[in-house]
Amino acid sequence: MSMQGIIKNSVSMARHVLNQHIRPGDTVIDATCGRGKDTLYLARLVGKTGRVLAFDIQSLAVNSTYSLLREQGWLDVVFLIKDDHINMTDHISGIVPRACVFNLGYMPGGNHTITTKPHSTIRALKNSLDSLAVDGIVSLVFYTGHPGGKEEYEAVNSYVAGLSQSKFTVIKSEFINQINSPPGLILIHKISEG
Ligand SMILES: C[S@@+](CC[C@H](N)C(=O)[O-])C[C@H]1O[C@@H](n2cnc3c(N)ncnc32)[C@H](O)[C@@H]1O
Repeated sequence: MSMQGIIKNSVSMARHVLNQHIRPGDTVIDATCGRGKDTLYLARLVGKTGRVLAFDIQSLAVNSTYSLLREQGWLDVVFLIKDDHINMTDHISGIVPRACVFNLGYMPGGNHTITTKPHSTIRALKNSLDSLAVDGIVSLVFYTGHPGGKEEYEAVNSYVAGLSQSKFTVIKSEFINQINSPPGLILIHKISEG
């Protein structure tokens, strides 16, 4: 892929890293499935022997994701779960995911008042880091341009900045010469159980 394709935006950068990391047969989580584009991307990476657990609190999101996966022939590897991602551990008992993807904010083309929130995002993030495999990756695309987005980003930033460096490597990238608050990316690599 060209550099333009990789660093075009935060989603393309996250996908580049996930593409290098996720192997056929892996189990991974989409914590915010929305319209299902990330879920479909993950399904293709884990392949027919893998598993994707995809969460969203909105029926509209789960239904949209269902339709996209059915149309593209990937329903068989995805478990669609209409629940708050803070409850993810209730659904993944015994499963050790190698990646968990958060795309924060509101559903594209959906109700802008239904967004991820600081408190629940941090609880879900903590749960995902606890259950993640060693060598696993969490990616978080964050938005600061909508109401509440900046506060959520600041809460997440402060939480991840405090993670133990003997257990996690954390990086953040932002597009610093673009207008309209483009989304940024946080990547967390679990390097040990501690
Ligand atoms: C930016 S969208 C996700 C976009 C999606 N990954 C895609 O490819 O289309 C954020 C989604 O998070 C969902 N969401 C908000 N709060 C949530 C929560 N507590 N648990 C699970 N999903 C949540 C929203 O309903 C929305 O669909």
